Amino acid sequence: MFVQVARAITDDIRRGALQPGDRLPSTRALATQFAVNRNTIVAAYDELVAQGWVVTRGAGGTFVSAELPERHVRDVRAVPDARDVRAARATRAGRRGQGAAAVRGVAARPGYDVRVLPATSVPFGSAEMLYHLSGGVPDTRLLPSAMLSRAYRRVLRSPAGRAALDYADPHGAPRLRTAIAAMLRTSRGIPATADNILITRGSQMALDLATRLLVRPGQTVAVEELGYRPAWRAFEEAGARLEPIALDGSGLVVDELAGVTPRCIYVTPHHQYPTTVLMSPARRMALLDRARRERFAILEDDYDHEFHFEGRPVAPLAADDPGGNVIYLGTLSKILAPGLRLGFVAAPEQVIDGLARLRTIADRQGDQVLELAVADLIEEGELQRHAKKMRRVYEARRDALVTALRRELAGALSFQLPAGGITLWAKVAAEVPLEVWCERARARGVAISAARDFALDGKARPYVRLAYARYRESELLDAVRRLRDALPRGKNSTRLAG
Ligand SMILES: Cc1ncc(COP(=O)(O)O)c(C=O)c1O
Repeated sequence: MFVQVARAITDDIRRGALQPGDRLPSTRALATQFAVNRNTIVAAYDELVAQGWVVTRGAGGTFVSAELPERHVRDVRAVPDARDVRAARATRAGRRGQGAAAVRGVAARPGYDVRVLPATSVPFGSAEMLYHLSGGVPDTRLLPSAMLSRAYRRVLRSPAGRAALDYADPHGAPRLRTAIAAMLRTSRGIPATADNILITRGSQMALDLATRLLVRPGQTVAVEELGYRPAWRAFEEAGARLEPIALDGSGLVVDELAGVTPRCIYVTPHHQYPTTVLMSPARRMALLDRARRERFAILEDDYDHEFHFEGRPVAPLAADDPGGNVIYLGTLSKILAPGLRLGFVAAPEQVIDGLARLRTIADRQGDQVLELAVADLIEEGELQRHAKKMRRVYEARRDALVTALRRELAGALSFQLPAGGITLWAKVAAEVPLEVWCERARARGVAISAARDFALDGKARPYVRLAYARYRESELLDAVRRLRDALPRGKNSTRLAG
C-alpha cells in the first residue's frame, strides 16, 4: 500500500500537479483523507525521501525536491487523488504490486516513431474454425507428452540439468548438437559433426539468422514461385529483392536461374512447399553445380523429412555438398509440436559460429532444459520411434483423405497421390470458382488455402492445398463432406460433387 501511495505522489510530480518546492500534506492529514494507517503514509514519504523525490525539513514538513525540473502543469491537483489510492487498494488483492500504474494502463501508442510491420497471416490460436486444412500442423493431440515430461524430469533432477539453468552456449546444448548430428549422419546422409549444428527456436529463427548473416539490402534472393511466405518475410525484412523461379513436375526449374546470380536461394526440395513435388535428381545436381560455380548459398528447408510414404526419404542437397554451399534447416515442429520451438541448422562451422553470434543478440541461448530432454529422447531412440509411428498415422490419414476426396469431390478436384509431406495439393476444376468455394467452406467451418496464398506474384491459380495431418480419419471425412456442401451451386454442381 505504501508503494502505491508513493507512486501516486511521484505520478503527480511527473505530471506537474506537484511542483518542485511544493509542500506535501502532513502524514496525519493524508492518512485521514485516504482512510489508511498513518504508518503507511510515513513509509511512503520515507520511500520518496530515499529516492530523492521529496525532502523533509524536520518539523517544517515534507516538500517536493527543489532539484527536480519544472513540469508543464496539465492537471493541477495539490495532492495525489484519493481515487487513485482507493482504486489501487481495490486492485491490490488481485494484482499485488502493480498499483496505480495498473489502474491507468500503458499508453496505447508510443510517444515516438516506430516501424510497425504489416500483419502477417501466420496462424495462431484461431479457434473459431472447425477444421484447419490450411496450415501444415501435426496432430499435437498425439504428442508423446508422458515421454517428454519423463525426459524433462530426468534432466531437471540431474546435475547437468541444474547447470543448464545458467547462461549457456548460444549454439545449443552440446548433447543435443551431438545427437542431431548423429541423426543427420545416419538417417539423412549429411556428414555433420556437432560443430556443424546450431540449435534454434524453430526454423523461423534459423531463417532470420541466416538472412541476417547473408543478405544485405538490394541483394537478390531467389525463391520458388509458390512457396513459404514466412521465409520470404525474413528476406524482405532484410531489404532483399525476391526473384521467383518457376516450378514444374520435377520441382524447381533450375535453368531459370541463368542470369539471376542470387546471393542465396531458398528451396524446399524434399516436399516442395506447397505443391509437395519432389525435386528430381537431375535438378538437384544442376542446382548444386550452379551454386558452386556462382558462389551462392542454398537455404534448404527440409521441414518434414520423416514424413515420406513412398520408399525411403530422399537424401537432402546437404548430403551431397562438398563445396559447402548448403545451409540446411530442420525442425521438430512436425515430429513433435510447433509450440516447442525447436529447430536446427547444419552448415559449415564458420557459418554456424556466425549464426550463433547473431542469435545472442535477440535470444542469448535456447531452452537448455528442453534441449537436453530432447537429446535424451534421441539418444534413447524414442524420438525416432515416435516419428516412425507418426509416419504410419499420417500415411493412413493421407489415404483416408484421398478416398474421401475421390468419393465426394471427384468432379471438382484432381490430384496425384503425394509421396510425402502432410498436405495434399489438388487441381480445381475450371468450373469451380475457387475463391467463392474457399469463402463458402469457411462459413461451414473448413479453412483451405488457395494457390494464391502461396504465390509470390499474388496471382490466382486453380489449385488448393489440404493439410490433413492434424485430423483423424472420421474428422477428415466430415471436413470433406463440408467442402462438398460448400461447392458453389452452379449448373454443374451435382457433377462436380462427384
Ligand atoms: C516450409 C516450412 N518450413 C518450416 C516450417 C516450420 O517452421 P518452424 O520450425 O519455425 O515451426 C514450416 C511449418 O509450417 C514450413 O511449412
